Amino acid sequence: AMGVEEVVREELGSLHGMPLYKSFIEVWPQVEAFQARPDDLLISTYPKSGTTWLSEILDMIYQEGNVEKCRRDAIYNRVPFLEFKDPGFPSGVELLEKTPSPRLVKTHLPIQLLPKSFCDKNCKFIYMARNPKDVVVSYYYFYKMAKTHPDPGTLAEFLESFMAGKVAYGSWYEHVRGWWEKKQKQQLLYLFYEDMKKDPRQEVQKILQFLGKEMAEEMVERILHHTSFQEMKKNPAANYETVPSALMDHSISPFLRKGIIGDWKNHFTVAQNERFNQHYQKHMMGSDLHFQMEA
Ligand code: A3P
Repeated sequence: AMGVEEVVREELGSLHGMPLYKSFIEVWPQVEAFQARPDDLLISTYPKSGTTWLSEILDMIYQEGNVEKCRRDAIYNRVPFLEFKDPGFPSGVELLEKTPSPRLVKTHLPIQLLPKSFCDKNCKFIYMARNPKDVVVSYYYFYKMAKTHPDPGTLAEFLESFMAGKVAYGSWYEHVRGWWEKKQKQQLLYLFYEDMKKDPRQEVQKILQFLGKEMAEEMVERILHHTSFQEMKKNPAANYETVPSALMDHSISPFLRKGIIGDWKNHFTVAQNERFNQHYQKHMMGSDLHFQMEA
């Protein structure tokens, strides 16, 4: 296997038409054949939508508010990433096979590519969506710091790629809409990053209700404290600092970067915003899915 030092930026491959890392595509047959267990809980997101935040909240719920237990390992080992594969690391599927039930499983797959087994086993899903303007800014910084991505170019260039669906995991529009439509059929809780920012207590209560769990108020309090941006940012088990710097360079941009609603306002020009709004309206037409672009 290739060593971590040799990882260089390379172009994305294509998985059934969706741009994706070539190393992930190589293990796709394993992912497609993945055997879910009925008590698996799937955490699904488009990249940069609050996956790590939601994952930490769920591990805290599963560990009944025990902060020490949640420090047992890095978040990417506590909540394995289903379709993951990088040279020198075990694949997500390999990691999941060794994980005792009940498992938390992370994925960024669009609904049409989700391995069939999750629906066959009637697993519960929690999806978290974030407004696309903040997603694209967050993704831009992530492309810069995580060296498995192609060079993003300027923000203006990256905006074009994002709107055209030519970034890893493809079109944001198809992703959020595809999972939104799944709400009717599957046991799916659809959450928004912006709601979680504005009223985390209420959103955690929604999750508890969805999971059929009851929790003492002081435990909820502990979860909210431990999963706040400031706490997660300094927690090595949650902030990705344990990833080799050849893969993720936090000096370029930390993984937990700003954690706010509306940072796009510090990045978009007026013209870019107008163009984005037009594109957004066209691609969200006919949907009852709505996003909060500001705090
Ligand atoms: P920013 O780049 O806008 O700061 P993902 O985990 O899906 O990759 O998403 C990463 C984004 O979620 C980053 O956004 C990160 O800062 C933000 N995030 C992570 N933990 C958070 C928390 N506890 N509260 C708010 N935002 C958080």
